[in-house]
Amino acid sequence: STIKVAVLVGSLRRASINLRLAKAVGRLAPKEFVFEHIRIDNLPLYNQDFDADYPAEARRLKQEIEGADALLFVTPEYNRGIPGVLKNALDIASRPWGTNSFAGKPGAVIGASIGSTGSALAQQHLRNVLAYLDVAMLAQPEVYVQFKDDGLIDAEGHVANEGTQKFLQTFMDRYVAWVKRHT
Ligand code: FNR
Repeated sequence: STIKVAVLVGSLRRASINLRLAKAVGRLAPKEFVFEHIRIDNLPLYNQDFDADYPAEARRLKQEIEGADALLFVTPEYNRGIPGVLKNALDIASRPWGTNSFAGKPGAVIGASIGSTGSALAQQHLRNVLAYLDVAMLAQPEVYVQFKDDGLIDAEGHVANEGTQKFLQTFMDRYVAWVKRHT
């Protein structure tokens, strides 16, 4: 049967290299895995006053997360952490208190950056947050893509470099096994 994966990309820009990376790994999954990109660009900024009456877009986000069997985060690094837009989405879906939409789901994080960290520090930051939010995160392999060459992954998610392609396939195989073990 179908396994639904909620994909959260930590960049809103159209030409995002992380969006390309998300598309690239989506192509490498078996066909029972369905990847659904979750919108985070139309959420309000989290405000604890929401907890009394949650906004419609915030409820929509929670429902989409809750309806997924697994999570995949693909994030850039902004100033050595995750972008605010992604943290905002995590905060929203984690509340109101006692209704954490992420709880118990299997997940993984990968990412790309222009800098030589390849988003490693942002991914570590995200792992901290998701440990608290009770997400069972795949530990290995870590995927830190340094995206210096614009042609590495095209807009449809085709990977130009064979070594990178093989490595992403290894990641996806491990991710699939991890998700199946948890569902
Ligand atoms: C960056 N960038 C960046 N890169 C990195 O490797 N480490 C970092 O700490 C940062 N910090 C940072 C902060 C801000 C505010 C911006 C806008 C950018 C560069 C980043 O890797 C580059 O812009 C990527 O292209 C962002 O990913 P997307 O949007 O292409 O997916």
